Amino acid sequence: MGLSNTDRVYGFVTKALHWLMFLMILTVIPLGLVAAGMAQDLRNPDIASTGADFTRTFLLFSLHKTLGLAIFLTALMRILWAATQSRPGLLNPDRPVGAFAARTVHWLLYSSLLLVPLTGWLTHAATSGFAPIWWPFGQSLPFVPKDDALAATLAGVHMVMQRVMMLSIALHIIGTLKHHFVDRDATLRRMLPGGRDIPAPPKQSQTQAQLHGPILVALALWATALAIGVGLGFIAP
Ligand code: HEM
Ligand code: HEM
Repeated sequence: MGLSNTDRVYGFVTKALHWLMFLMILTVIPLGLVAAGMAQDLRNPDIASTGADFTRTFLLFSLHKTLGLAIFLTALMRILWAATQSRPGLLNPDRPVGAFAARTVHWLLYSSLLLVPLTGWLTHAATSGFAPIWWPFGQSLPFVPKDDALAATLAGVHMVMQRVMMLSIALHIIGTLKHHFVDRDATLRRMLPGGRDIPAPPKQSQTQAQLHGPILVALALWATALAIGVGLGFIAP
């Protein structure tokens, strides 16, 4: 298996980054959900909390934030790498709607790998009394004041963007499994180790609408998510 993608299969670097990020995201989401649940319990006057509960919640939040930023940096590398690479051709170029949907989800996934950690980082920078990120580069961000209202708005945006990310991951997995088990094509095998026996995709040409349409749809979905997130942040208690 070569390092770079070919028109038949993904190369080693793309595959390694894809599955590494999958494992990191599989860890960071439950960490965020559990830590946020524990923080809610700490704020609830009906639930008695001990010092150990505070320490545990801070520990989980610090882990969540540090891993989230590691995802941000790995995503930057992944996107830079993807920009230098060709992609394997479509296995079913005669199904433009499916290809359009898959590309839209890919754009949502790539952008969420940056937007979700970025909005978490902004929330962290605007919050006072926070669990620290475990790194030596400081806890604040330029131009982001410590402000409870701003922190609540940013937390709302972080939450809605995570939900878009989770939905995109679910659609992506369903689409991949459909290719593997229903269409029985090589879509999944192209992203797994090996792949020497995978045939070349059929000849194809894509129109401008097929290339750029998914980017526009993904942008429109993000604009909607941003508006909902800001609205949620304003109405959060
Ligand atoms: C891919 C990366 C990330 C994912 C998937 C993610 C996901 C999550 C999830 C699922 C929650 C729980 C939300 C809920 O209450 O339902 C959460 C909360 C939170 N995350 Fe992240 N996160 C990521 C990165 C980050 C980073 C890098 C930071 C900070 C440096 C961060 C800071 C926070 C904070 C402060 C909260 C609590 C927000 C609140 O007060 O409601 N996250 N995150
Ligand atoms: C955190 C979860 C995941 C993220 C963020 C993610 C992200 C991505 C992205 C951005 C691409 C596009 C690569 C490109 O062509 O530029 C991709 C491709 C792919 N992913 Fe995932 N993925 C995730 C989980 C999974 C899982 C669990 C599976 C298997 C069930 C999977 C199977 C694939 C396959 C087969 C492709 C190639 C699709 C094609 O050739 O059109 N992914 N993934």
